[in-house]
Amino acid sequence: MFPFYTLEDLERGAPCVGGLTAKLAVIGSPIDHSLSPQLQQAALDAAGIPVAYIRLLAKEGEFARTVERLRELGFAGANVTVPFKKEAFALADHKDALAELSGAVNTLIFEPSGIRGANTDGPGFCLALEGFGMRPRARSIAILGACGGAGTALACACALDGCAHLTLINRTSDRLPALAATVRKAGLPAESICCVAARDSREVIRAVQGAEILVQATSLGLAAGDAPPLPFEALHSGLFVYDIVTHDTPLLAEARRRGLPSASGLSMLLYQGAEAFRLWFPEARVDVDAMKRALDGGRSS
Ligand code: ATR
Repeated sequence: MFPFYTLEDLERGAPCVGGLTAKLAVIGSPIDHSLSPQLQQAALDAAGIPVAYIRLLAKEGEFARTVERLRELGFAGANVTVPFKKEAFALADHKDALAELSGAVNTLIFEPSGIRGANTDGPGFCLALEGFGMRPRARSIAILGACGGAGTALACACALDGCAHLTLINRTSDRLPALAATVRKAGLPAESICCVAARDSREVIRAVQGAEILVQATSLGLAAGDAPPLPFEALHSGLFVYDIVTHDTPLLAEARRRGLPSASGLSMLLYQGAEAFRLWFPEARVDVDAMKRALDGGRSS
């Protein structure tokens, strides 16, 4: 598949891939490593929907025009990734509860009445956890990097799902009070929320002691040689470690070394994609197994 298309390409018309006209896309910058095309094309093919899904690189200032052009070309919608999730939120005419709370939209659905914006990262995360025999509901959860885009969406998703307790950990502490207020709006009482500055190692270790699930949502671990996102002494027995980075990380390796159950963000990527597909094609069956096979194949190729 062509690595990515640009707004300039779209101005000439909808790209054609393997005889299929593109009607869905993922928009971001950079975008060439996005696994969404493998994932979504597998679901489209399995459902017998004859359209192509492409990667779109939008330069700074081009996002709104790119979305407008997709609508002109009759696209069904798009996925949105870094750094455009906030811009997608601003463009959407109607939004789901998680998008409203987190201020971030990762899925656009083009409807005759306007643009619908959804955040499927939250449901994707909950479904991923379900695959490991749990949900956020009634659990005590600690989130590292809680104030980042992903961390905020996951904190709100945990609150919406009815978690028992949430520990919000972030490198810088200035955005923690606002995030705690947002999580309260999502239905979690103030006494069930605890805010911790990541630089306070002792406090991090103490706070994670009370958690059943640790979610790693910082960008640490994306690059080889990144510092650990928390002191490993915090990894107590019985803790489930979920790292949203889609490859193996030193944190996951350490969790395995300590015999703790753990998982990478690959399952969240899978289920957020399946949820997006459901929003575009509510009548179609989503073949999650086909999507999973495509993801596994795409990673090993
Ligand atoms: P976003 O655009 O989603 O905010 P980001 O800048 O990569 O993405 O940050 C995501 C999260 O990773 C944030 O919680 C960020 O902490 P700050 O709010 O203090 O910036 C965290 N993060 C990024 N780099 C980090 C680092 N070197 N150490 C600890 N946390 C880091």
